[in-house]
This record gives sequence, structure tokens and C-alpha cells, in this order.
Amino acid sequence: MNLGSPHVGIVLGSGLGAVADAVEDAVVIGYEDLPGFPRPTVVGHAGRAVLGRIGGVPVAVLQGRAHLYEGGDPEAVRTPVRALRAAGAEILILTNAAGSLHPSVGPGSLMAINDHINLTGVNLLTGPNDDAVGPRFPSLRDAYDPALLDAMRSCAQDLGIALAEGVYLAVTGPSFETPAEIRAFRTLGADAVGMSTVQETILARHCGLRVAAVSVITNLAEGMTEEALSHEQTLSAAQEGAVDLTRLLLELIPRC
Ligand code: HPA
Repeated sequence: MNLGSPHVGIVLGSGLGAVADAVEDAVVIGYEDLPGFPRPTVVGHAGRAVLGRIGGVPVAVLQGRAHLYEGGDPEAVRTPVRALRAAGAEILILTNAAGSLHPSVGPGSLMAINDHINLTGVNLLTGPNDDAVGPRFPSLRDAYDPALLDAMRSCAQDLGIALAEGVYLAVTGPSFETPAEIRAFRTLGADAVGMSTVQETILARHCGLRVAAVSVITNLAEGMTEEALSHEQTLSAAQEGAVDLTRLLLELIPRC
């Protein structure tokens, strides 16, 4: 079957699979049939690609991603991003679940990522560079595409969705942060903290994809509330935020 080229690739984070249900004329391919794609080990990550259209735009929705904390082959992060580009995609929309460093941006809120801080200690462009894929030293200025950010802002406004905006700081996890780390991250300029996305953004910019990214805030970061954090809480709060995320993406994609 000739599915054509996707224009937009979308990576769905923990518990955010609902966007995949909106794909029209969907063809579903399990990651086990896609060489080099990850085998998700985390509850809330399905491990399948849904190809089709959203609002007439050809899309490839990736439900599930590899995380550094899974300790697997870094190729499992590189391959999906480069496969989307090789398939003809021009835009990559990344979503994730994240903790907020702002009491006023609580669980269920959305935050458009306008920059990142990579505290994972790795960069998956390390190693020999394939000049056919991208440059040795790619720029990360405007890593989060200003025109796509603008489009997200106007979609949110049109839909009456409150869209926060800020800097996503990435750690490897899998432990959540300590309260002292969160205080340090605030000083560094972070607005949200999570365990994904920045490597995909780096890989995407390297191969020439334009990036938009949105965090679904599932919790206030460690030390900001009485309760300790848990993955179960992440998944249940993600479900709440997923409703607005789906509305936002269904509005954004046709404007891409
Ligand atoms: N920290 C790191 N990753 C996360 C969090 C958090 O508080 N919430 C959801 N993913």
C-alpha cells in the first residue's frame, strides 16, 4: 500500500495516546515491524505508529518513545526521528508529560516549550557524523520553531485553552528529582522538568525538521506539594491534560 509521505510527525508522551484516535484512514504499524524502533517498556507507551491524516494533513503519529532511563540502544531514539525525515516529514511535534516549577501552572495545564536545558549529560549526536543527514555542529538557536510557536499560541487562543510557555529542562530519570534539584533548576531558568524530548529535538534539528513541542503538566515538581511523586499520578493527570492537548493539536496540524 502506498501511504504517501507524512508532512507532520507527532510523538506522543506518557498517557497521551488519545491524539492517535483522531487519525483518519489510519494504518497502524507496530514498532516490532519497524526496524530500529524502540520496544517501549513503560506503562502508558503503546509502541505503534499510526499513519493517516488529521484535518487533511498527512501525519505519522508515534505512540511511544525510547527514554534514556530505559538504558537501551540510543539508536531507538535516533531511528524514529530520522525515519520521519527520510519519509518526507518536515515538521515534528513532540509531546511529553512534565512537572511544573510554577505553582500557577498546575496539573492538567499545557506548556508550549520555547527552549530547553539538556541536563541529561548526553547528546545523541555524539559519534561519527553522517553529513548526508545533517551538519556536525547544528545550531540550536530557535530549536523550537518560532512560526510554529506562534501558530500554537493562536490555536490556543482560538480554542480558549490557557497555554503556558517556557523552558523544558531534561533529566535522564528514572528517579524523580530531589527538592534541592528543583530549587537549582528554577535558578537555572527552567519552567518544567521531564525525562524526554530534548534528544529528539536535537536529532530533529540536525536533520532539518522544524520542531514544535508541548508539555502536559502532570504535577508540580518535587518539593512543591505535600505528596511524593509517582508514575501513576503522572498517567492520571496526563489523561486530563490530554483532552486539551488533543484539541490543540487537531487545530494546529491543519495550520502546519
Ligand atoms: N519530573 C520529571 N519527569 C516528569 C515529571 C517530573 O516531575 N512529571 C512528569 N514527568
